[in-house]
Amino acid sequence: MSNTWNARSGRRAGATSVTAMSTTQTYHIAVIPGDGIGKEIIPVAQAALDKAAEGAAHFEYESFDLGAERYLRDGAILPDEDLERIKRTDAILLGAIGDPRIKAGILERGLLLKLRFALDQYVNLRPSKLYKGVTSPLADPGDIDFVVVREGTEGLYCGAGGAIRRDTPAEVATEVSLNTAYGVERVVRYAFELAMKRRKHVTLVHKKNVLVNAGDMWQRIVDRVGEEYPEVSHDYQHIDAATIFLVSDPSRFDVILTDNLFGDILTDEAGAVVGGVGYSASGCINASNEYPSMFEPIHGSAPDIAGKGIANPTAAILSTAMLLRHLGFEEPAVRIERAVEADIEELGSTQRSTQQVGQDILARL
Ligand code: IPM
Ligand code: MN
Repeated sequence: MSNTWNARSGRRAGATSVTAMSTTQTYHIAVIPGDGIGKEIIPVAQAALDKAAEGAAHFEYESFDLGAERYLRDGAILPDEDLERIKRTDAILLGAIGDPRIKAGILERGLLLKLRFALDQYVNLRPSKLYKGVTSPLADPGDIDFVVVREGTEGLYCGAGGAIRRDTPAEVATEVSLNTAYGVERVVRYAFELAMKRRKHVTLVHKKNVLVNAGDMWQRIVDRVGEEYPEVSHDYQHIDAATIFLVSDPSRFDVILTDNLFGDILTDEAGAVVGGVGYSASGCINASNEYPSMFEPIHGSAPDIAGKGIANPTAAILSTAMLLRHLGFEEPAVRIERAVEADIEELGSTQRSTQQVGQDILARL
């Protein structure tokens, strides 16, 4: 069987196995369990992915030893060889990155953000849904089902800026927000396309009353692209107001479109509103398919509960549904989502181990 790679499309050529009934394509998945509970939840997520895709797709996993342990052991964060190998895969499944022993920023910038930038994952897709059986901290949450489309490669995350006279009273530190018409337009288009498949409403969230340069450009691009989608309505909220509506009237949102930093903050709030980030999955999508996209739970490495076998793998399992959908397997993706929904409704409030939750969800697949 040929093992050649098509680096452009991220697709492997000739890796098709023919069974009696169907043709099953093989996909090569980079697995980065990472730190803390990432190592515990990722194997459970892989099991769910395999089971849901049975007969439709076959997954070959390549595990990457990246994260805090590796860094503490040999100082490596994301070696070039690893990045090159990751680039040739079809998708990435990531657990969590972060460790209190390591200074803030080293792994975040050197590993997680480096992947998002190097693989041009310009759409950071973060759905929020209040599942039946989950208690929202809101007294009257209503039906919550929205998706945040967070720009993933620009804004304040670019790393543009610097410091001079460090550690002196005259220190100067700058972080510059970079916004390009190219980068904004492609994510705006993604949001409108997504809205077409949903309830057809886009809310741009920014701070255009203060960030008059970037905010105005975002708004003009939304207005212009929006004309191509007459069925999709769009409105605008300032970020500060959006944080209020997210708790006072979250069911008003369908697709929230925003920049990198606003999206980061808003999706944590969204996670809390739907009962905790334990149920929130995300995708860092390279929608042009030039590079692999990356799927990860929104929660972090949770060092306080790591190693105890009690971390909830639900968000990681939901991330595999997003991975499947991205690769074109809608039906297995829906199957995972239904299994998770049923599991939460029936057993969501019980205390279960990581393994048990995994088994319960797998049994429904
Ligand atoms: C997230 C995280 C990351 C981000 C950090 C860890 C770099 O908070 O995925 O939301 O800010 O994007
Ligand atoms: Mn975040």
